[in-house]
Order: sequence, then structure tokens, then C-alpha cells
Amino acid sequence: MAPTALLEGTNLRKTYRLGGHTTVDALRGVDVTIDQGEMVAIMGPSGSGKSTLMHILGLLHAPDPNHGPRPELRFDGRDMVSLGEGERTRIRARRMGFVFQDFNLVPTLTALENVMLACDYAGIRGAAARTAAREALDLVGLADRGDHRPTELSGGEQQRAAIARALVNRPSLVLADEPTGNLDSERSAEVLALLRRFNVEHGQTLVLVTHDEEVGAACDRVVRMRDGRVRDQAAAVIVRATEPAPRAVAAVA
Ligand SMILES: Nc1ncnc2c1ncn2[C@@H]1O[C@H](COP(=O)(O)OP(=O)(O)OP(=O)(O)O)[C@@H](O)[C@H]1O
Ligand SMILES: [Mg+2]
Repeated sequence: MAPTALLEGTNLRKTYRLGGHTTVDALRGVDVTIDQGEMVAIMGPSGSGKSTLMHILGLLHAPDPNHGPRPELRFDGRDMVSLGEGERTRIRARRMGFVFQDFNLVPTLTALENVMLACDYAGIRGAAARTAAREALDLVGLADRGDHRPTELSGGEQQRAAIARALVNRPSLVLADEPTGNLDSERSAEVLALLRRFNVEHGQTLVLVTHDEEVGAACDRVVRMRDGRVRDQAAAVIVRATEPAPRAVAAVA
């Protein structure tokens, strides 16, 4: 069966204005397609536009309207560019999970409450939310840290709390910006195996930004960026694992 596109972005551009005439062309026209059930890594040097692209794919920022070709962004076949903010927020809350590069945990809330907040946004509250949040923290090995506020967690624990928050609603798409950036190699392999398990068991689509070639190699495909572009547009597919589930899965199965 031919793969179905879950995300399709065309002519995605983003220019940041820094006051005066200073601008930064963070994205200079990116075309990218992510298929349903794929686990894709986005790699590239610092400043190449990876986070900017993730924020656009995750409906957190809109692509620039462009003077040239119009940007397009389709999620599940549906146009996202013309949607109002309310509908974008609703889709993001119910269908997507986002792991931010700097975690974005609410400092006044405990880890459990941070995860429950994602449930709340998706319309799940009360005991159901508490149970789901506990399970998600358990999955990332933080069952005994639910009552800690972010400042009372290590960097790696904060990262795992952010991953629990992204996974709690079992979203069809998880976008994770450096989800293993603060983890040692053992924890990194565990988190990767967990993400792959969700990918295999729930058909969840995963897009990960990473600097780590090992993480890239564990994904089905690597999209490489440079200077705001996908390098080698003709063949964004650089690596495709021959095995659908890498060995790492066995470690947690
Ligand atoms: N809010 C902003 N205002 C101005 N410039 C920005 C802003 N966010 C990002 N940039 C610039 O846009 C470019 C792309 O940034 P982006 O954060 O997407 O890079 P990245 O590939 O994620 O880098 P890293 O690997 O360091 O996280 C960089 O040159 C950055 O300085
Ligand atoms: Mg970044």
C-alpha cells in the first residue's frame, strides 16, 4: 500500500525581523513530506532552521505568507494555513504532542500537573487525566517524581517530563526538538526505544530534531537541513532502515 502523507509542507519560509533592517532568513523555502507512521529525524548544523521548521509543522507558528509561491501546509490532507488560531490550537491539543528544545514546563506546577495540563487542553480532566498523566510519567521512568516542580528535577528529568507531556494524549503526531539532548547515552537509548515502541504499537508518527547521528540512524529517514533549506531537495531520503523496528525496541519490549 502506498504511504499516506500525514504532513505536507511546501514553500515554507520564515524571516525573523530584529528591528531596523536586520532580518534572519531562518527558512528559505522548505518542501517536506512526512508519511503516516514514519519516524523521521531532522538534522543539520545549529541555526539551520530545524526548530523553526518544527514550530511551523506543529502549528505553533505560521509560515510567512511569501511574496512568491504561496506556502502550503497540510495535516491529514487538511489545509492548515487558512485555519483560524482557535482551530489550529484545537488540532494541536488533540492530535499533536510537542517536546520543546527548552522543555517549556510551567515552573509553578509539579511534573504531574504539567502533564495533566496537556490532558486539560485536549478536554480530558479529573481522575482520567490524573491516571493518564501518572501512566505517562511512569513510561518515562518518572513515576516517583510526579510531585516535583521543574526546578526540583534534573535537566534529563525535565526532558523526560516534557516527553511524558507530549505522549499523554496518545497523539497521532509527536514533534520532538532534541528529545535526547540532555540525556546520557543509556537514557537516550531508552527514550528512543520508548518513542519507537509508540510508533510501532500505535502507528504514531514521529519527527525528531537531533544532533546525534546515532539517533538519526535509529530513525526510518533523515531530513538534513542547511542554511534554512532541506539539503538535497531531490532526495530528502538519506537513510531508510531496512528493518521497520530497530533493535532498540527489543530493550523495552
Ligand atoms: N525568535 C527569533 N528571532 C530572531 N531570529 C531567530 C529567532 N528564532 C530563531 N532565529 C534565528 O533563525 C535561525 C534558525 O534558528 P533555529 O532555532 O530554527 O535553528 P536550529 O537549527 O534549531 O538551531 P539549534 O540546533 O541551535 O537549535 C538562526 O539563525 C536563529 O538565530
Ligand atoms: Mg533548535
